[in-house]
Amino acid sequence: MSDIPATVLVVDFGAQYAQLIARRVRQARVYSEIVRHDTPLAELLARQPAGIILSGGPESVYGSWAPEVDPALYDAGVPILGICYGAQLLTRQLGGTVAHTGRGEYGRTPLTRHRPSALFEDFPPTVTDVWMSHADSITEPPPGFEATASTPGAPIAALHHAERRIHGVQFHPEVVHTDRGQQLLERFLFDVCDASPTWTHTNIIESSVQAVQSQVEAGRVLCALSGGVDSAVAAALVHKAVGDQLTCVFVDTGLMRAGEGEQVEETFRKQFHVDLIHVKAADRFFGVLAGVTDPERKRKAIGETFIRIFEEVARDVEDARFLVQGTLYPDVIESGTRDAANIKSHHNVGGLPEDMAFDLVEPLRALFKDEVRAVGEELGLPEEIVWRQPFPGPGLAVRIVGEVTAERVAILRAADAIVVEEVRRAGLYRDLWQSFAVLPAVRTVGVMGDGRTYAYPIVIRAVRSDDAMTADWARLPYELLERLSNRIINEVDGVNRVALDITSKPPGTIEWE
Ligand code: XMP
Repeated sequence: MSDIPATVLVVDFGAQYAQLIARRVRQARVYSEIVRHDTPLAELLARQPAGIILSGGPESVYGSWAPEVDPALYDAGVPILGICYGAQLLTRQLGGTVAHTGRGEYGRTPLTRHRPSALFEDFPPTVTDVWMSHADSITEPPPGFEATASTPGAPIAALHHAERRIHGVQFHPEVVHTDRGQQLLERFLFDVCDASPTWTHTNIIESSVQAVQSQVEAGRVLCALSGGVDSAVAAALVHKAVGDQLTCVFVDTGLMRAGEGEQVEETFRKQFHVDLIHVKAADRFFGVLAGVTDPERKRKAIGETFIRIFEEVARDVEDARFLVQGTLYPDVIESGTRDAANIKSHHNVGGLPEDMAFDLVEPLRALFKDEVRAVGEELGLPEEIVWRQPFPGPGLAVRIVGEVTAERVAILRAADAIVVEEVRRAGLYRDLWQSFAVLPAVRTVGVMGDGRTYAYPIVIRAVRSDDAMTADWARLPYELLERLSNRIINEVDGVNRVALDITSKPPGTIEWE
């Protein structure tokens, strides 16, 4: 994505804040990228940013690790907005005072404005609520700066130097709890930076298509489709760019959700006319899973079998030199920075066979998940694919506790389809991060009609989450739970009990294995 007209760089002092800010800027249709705080100034300026936002962060400007920016940035003539830590940092670096006043603020607080500011241009004259999270406070603006607003705990909650186009806010305009936070960011982007809202879905698609075309030229491209949104959107984009040069491979592991294989056929072969190799490999996967109960061994067996099959297919596609990967922007930002504690080996089925010499094509590398979905919709992918909840690479195998057999998978798939159908009918499917069925391979006693039953339970797992790192169990309505229980027991042979998982993450994980 080289020739993006207006770019706003977000200098990262704490990943969680920076990502949210970049997403908000992009919501305003201005392209935004996150850069490390130690990026050399010359490199920042070489990007010719329309503006720079200094993010919030967990540190105090007086902390032992207080990251800074090169002070020459403030004289570069680029509009700057400092948020929270970013505002304190620019205050201190430009000669103002930040103090431990002992009056930190956390949560919603009323903001009173004292002077006009470009940022508050269309705000109503009354007090608005903003979201605060700070221990230190700005007590003295730098020379030439004016304080423009305050809150009960922050005598200087906003400040600016209008001519130098440098602004700071102690509160967080990027969070939804700040009234008109998005509006404030837009005033910075459009009035202070004079940026144009050019980052539209059509432009995203056009620039991706161009980038793929110039990378691939006349080469052949392979793409492993999983049925999930990322690989589907990546495939659709690459197909738009290079048409028949793309071959998609869909390996049906026999561990997919109900209807996934059919959906992939329908969408890619029939609607998009993509060259699609559909490998029906359920028997092979059930073969390697026979007798395996350990979760990590399951994952490994599935991952290796997948790669083997993919290699076999790839060998038959002549001159395939490129492989599509559905890498997203948050993966790019976080690779290398995140603690590598390996809680589960998240073997991404559909991942890169390590010893195969492919060049990677990553058309989603610059996109957040919501942008991937919007692009998918724009490209005409069906709603079921674009809004499908995440699904683990090893599929239903890691939702069966115990040995994976064809019979258990069939039971679980049928129960899961009921969960999906009912959650959709209740209007909750998009709100929930995931909602699915789990089959612990134990049997319990029940009574149906006049007879005793001895069958499997199904556990319903539904969670809310933003990024799967933490999750809260979803409070599903009783009526929905009642329908799920009735339907699963009545419609799925082999099930006589339904339970609900009410564990958050941590301490639980979202999946059961
Ligand atoms: P856990 O269970 O660790 O899952 O809380 C977090 C998120 O990751 C998904 N998940 C996987 N995704 N391969 C994947 O591609 C895997 O092996 C895998 N295991 C878990 C899970 O569905 C949840 O969204």
